Amino acid sequence: MPYNFIKNVILNENTPSKELELQPLPYSKTDLEPVFSEDALFYHYNKLAQTYVDRYNKREGDLDFNEAGAFLHNLLFPQFQRVSPSNEPNGPALEFILEHYKSFEEFKKKFAETAMGIQGSGWVYLAQDGNIKTITNHQTRQDIVLIIDWWEHAWALDYKWDKKKYLENQWRIINWNVIGARVG
Ligand SMILES: [Fe+2]
Repeated sequence: MPYNFIKNVILNENTPSKELELQPLPYSKTDLEPVFSEDALFYHYNKLAQTYVDRYNKREGDLDFNEAGAFLHNLLFPQFQRVSPSNEPNGPALEFILEHYKSFEEFKKKFAETAMGIQGSGWVYLAQDGNIKTITNHQTRQDIVLIIDWWEHAWALDYKWDKKKYLENQWRIINWNVIGARVG
């Protein structure tokens, strides 16, 4: 249930409100090494992503921005898994990619071209119509199949300047079962 992270809280009958939650990680903080160091994951998940949730719940700052930041990180972290020697897409995720691209290699190439074209902070994602789309800053979208964080905070700690290497490494930790479920 990738979108099911919003807990509605009714404060009183005339003022419906809601609280956001950060989805628990389905792995330990060291499981994504060496793609993400424990430090980088802690900083990204426990500090940055949690701050979007906390600020939204306290009604601080821009509500739409913080809500979208929480929403996107709740799609990002659950789609990762431990590094495995060969992590190729399979099942419905592979079928979906091959419906829209000649091969997984071609898909990765196009994904990288789109990502490297982003100026400033944002996100790049595979959409339910098969296209690769971008998001400036944070925005809530309902058509996300696979998403990569293109904000500097996602890559700077482990990859310094090398965004290309960061993206290449993401393919080593994608949980294709999660992606397959989103396709459906
Ligand atoms: Fe992020």
